[in-house]
Amino acid sequence: MPKESDFQLTESPVPRPAGGEILVRSRYLSVDPYIRGRLTGVTTYVKGIQPGELVGAGAVGEVVESNDPRFARGDIAEGMLGWQEYAVAPAKALRKFDPEGHPISAALYVLGMPGLTAYFGLLEICRPQPGETVVVSGAAGAVGSLVGQIAKIKRCRAIGVAGSDEKVDFLTKEMGFDSGFNYKTTTDYQAKLKELCPNGIDIYFDNVGGRVTDEVMRLIATRARIAVCGQISQYNATQPEMGPRWLGQLIVKQARMEGFLVFQFADRYEAALQQLSAWLRQGKIRYREDVVEGIENTPRAFIGMLEGRNLGKQLVKLA
Ligand SMILES: NC(=O)c1ccc[n+]([C@@H]2O[C@H](COP(=O)([O-])OP(=O)(O)OC[C@H]3O[C@@H](n4cnc5c(N)ncnc54)[C@H](OP(=O)(O)O)[C@@H]3O)[C@@H](O)[C@H]2O)c1
Repeated sequence: MPKESDFQLTESPVPRPAGGEILVRSRYLSVDPYIRGRLTGVTTYVKGIQPGELVGAGAVGEVVESNDPRFARGDIAEGMLGWQEYAVAPAKALRKFDPEGHPISAALYVLGMPGLTAYFGLLEICRPQPGETVVVSGAAGAVGSLVGQIAKIKRCRAIGVAGSDEKVDFLTKEMGFDSGFNYKTTTDYQAKLKELCPNGIDIYFDNVGGRVTDEVMRLIATRARIAVCGQISQYNATQPEMGPRWLGQLIVKQARMEGFLVFQFADRYEAALQQLSAWLRQGKIRYREDVVEGIENTPRAFIGMLEGRNLGKQLVKLA
């Protein structure tokens, strides 16, 4: 688990943009689980961060200066601007965000990477059909709470697994999930899942891995689809955790398990964002942001998110 003392806040002059670049003053910084992987320094699908380097992360803010025709001063820009107050970046690497009545923080949540992850992970990898039972782990977080709501839009039953009673209440009372359970206080996951999913689990959207996943795998239905979105229970692990070997279930149930990265759907983002925006306007999708203020509180927010203290999308608001 990272510690606050692993991070350092430094000051430097505001940079000036060169040709093709823009200067952005960030309003919201994003705090995401994948950053934990980057902090190991190892490059996977994104470059690892070395000690002393800026923490690369999503952010959204206003264009202060532009040397590129794609952006004008005052436009809203979103992209990998990092945990910093001002950022210079190539205009072509950023998205111009038209809020269309939504708050600009939506660019980091429902109308950004987490929203797209929920959308493509559920609809493309799992292909939900009306009446199916969908189990979501990490359900009260940014991605998970959207997955359950999209499952409901597709007329499925949505069951959420989350780390506190407050989170389970939030899912069933505010986010429209049919049911859920607290994995920290429930001792017999198997009995609980059987009670909540008497006909088996048609779709499992996995954000966490570990023991929750081990128990879900024992109850998958014939032709189940499993989207491996995240494995947050393993992100601080220093060696592989051993567990039951359940791959045989994929044979017996003729099930499909598929890992994905949201970026693989990049050429279809535009249509997905239009749909997510319409669902937001129609009130079919609701969301909760967990906002801390001040760049100096970003490491604390990040560690809190890894510990499950966030409810909804963790963001940092800058002055
Ligand atoms: N594949 C992709 O392209 C893609 C894109 C975005 C995100 N992701 C993945 O999706 C998952 C959710 O991301 P997010 O941004 O929506 O974060 P999030 O769910 O808002 O925040 C992380 C949550 O993980 C839970 N958690 C932490 N440690 C856990 C553990 N040991 N066991 C079970 N749950 C634990 C905590 O909730 P509890 O209180 O419930 O424990 C915490 O609130 C992450 O695994 C992330 O890496 C994947």
